[in-house]
Amino acid sequence: MAAKAWQGVFETTTDKRVEQFTESISFDHRLYRQDIAGSLAHAQMLTKQGLLTEEEYAQIETNLKEIEKEIEAGTFPYQIELEDIHMHIERALIERIGDTGRKLHTARSRNDQVATDFRLWVRDAIDDLSGQLRQLQKAYVGRCERDKDTVIPGYTHLQRAQPVLAPHYWLAYCEKWERDWSRLMDCRRRVNVCSLGSAALAGSSLPIDREMTAQLLGFEEVARNSLDVASDRDFVLEFGFCLSVIALHLSTWAEEWILWSTTEFDFIDLPETFCTGSSIMPQKINPDVLELIRGKTARVIGNLQALMVLVKGLPLAYNRDLQEDKPRIFDAYDTVHDCLALAIPMVEQAELRRESIASRLEHGYLDATTLMEYFIQRGIPQRKGHELVGKLVRQATRKKVPLAELELEAFQEIEPSLTEEVYEVLGVQKAIERFVSYGSTSPAQVAKQVAFWQEKLAQES
Ligand code: ARG
Repeated sequence: MAAKAWQGVFETTTDKRVEQFTESISFDHRLYRQDIAGSLAHAQMLTKQGLLTEEEYAQIETNLKEIEKEIEAGTFPYQIELEDIHMHIERALIERIGDTGRKLHTARSRNDQVATDFRLWVRDAIDDLSGQLRQLQKAYVGRCERDKDTVIPGYTHLQRAQPVLAPHYWLAYCEKWERDWSRLMDCRRRVNVCSLGSAALAGSSLPIDREMTAQLLGFEEVARNSLDVASDRDFVLEFGFCLSVIALHLSTWAEEWILWSTTEFDFIDLPETFCTGSSIMPQKINPDVLELIRGKTARVIGNLQALMVLVKGLPLAYNRDLQEDKPRIFDAYDTVHDCLALAIPMVEQAELRRESIASRLEHGYLDATTLMEYFIQRGIPQRKGHELVGKLVRQATRKKVPLAELELEAFQEIEPSLTEEVYEVLGVQKAIERFVSYGSTSPAQVAKQVAFWQEKLAQES
């Protein structure tokens, strides 16, 4: 085994336990593609700046690409003594092309190398997730036509509140995914900054061209301050936060559908291929996937917490602590990616239990607020209208009937000016038609929202 790249000053070899303890190859092997892309850009720049010859560049390029293929084929030999992915690839290059390979690390440190690789990796992860979020939005919008006539009870405090159209529900989630998407895009801008060339922390005395490497790697900006960018992991924290909010939204959705799928609610049939059974109770079809999506949110948030604690109090610039950022963000990303991959087909395939939902709409006085607003339109002050409708609800509850089944006399007793017309606003179907405010749940308003999303998502595909 050849000596370590940093061995020069050492008189003894590293304790095996230290090698075990400090290695990151077991997880940062995932950065191989970004590491090779970064090295190719760096070598191209060194060539233009006269620090490598064209022949040397050609050799480096050919061999780095071969190494990449070997890694992809699974035949690349990993060894713990080489610490991390950066050392592995560099060593493999040196083994193939000797001194030319030894020049690749000119004007570069693993500190700017790892930051660059990680930025490239996070950028790819963002692009992947943003695509998944779009697919999820399409799954919701795709349901709107099929569920367009279904009215569902809407809840506050998990108590029946007002009726909402099923597509209104679906599009509420689309809005959440939209914010998640745009949060990722904001984060991407700050990720997309090139740290390469900051070297260890202070930059380099060699004539490097940082603009060029940044451009070759598709970075929008070159980091202005070498010391800052060598220590900066804000982009990792931000990405961790973006992931956490996506996970939180997923857990809200999962929780609702878990409830909806219970016998007590009986609102939804989850696709059976996404459910699992019980080892003892033969009748059970359980929503384990949704429960795990809800549960895995804890993991994603835990990872964000760990990342924040990790950077707390770290002095500038690079400290080895920073190596711990990768397992946390890899885990958070994998978790969210896997959750989204399951959410998309579940949203597409679940079926509303329309009859069961319809049979329960007349309970819970979902039309009470609309009735109050009808009173307001007839000149009754809101507070008074609220009280009067409260009294009517009390009467109806006693009689165990919906508001629409109260006699006209009951209405006239509390407000003599009321006529038969009052029945025009009663019952969930009639009530829902009356929502006219922008962004509300009437079929006309919801149709506008559906059209908006259809057009928006069509433009982006
Ligand atoms: N593997 C390290 C990391 O992930 C990068 C190496 C920097 N190491 C160093 N001793 N400067 O952060």
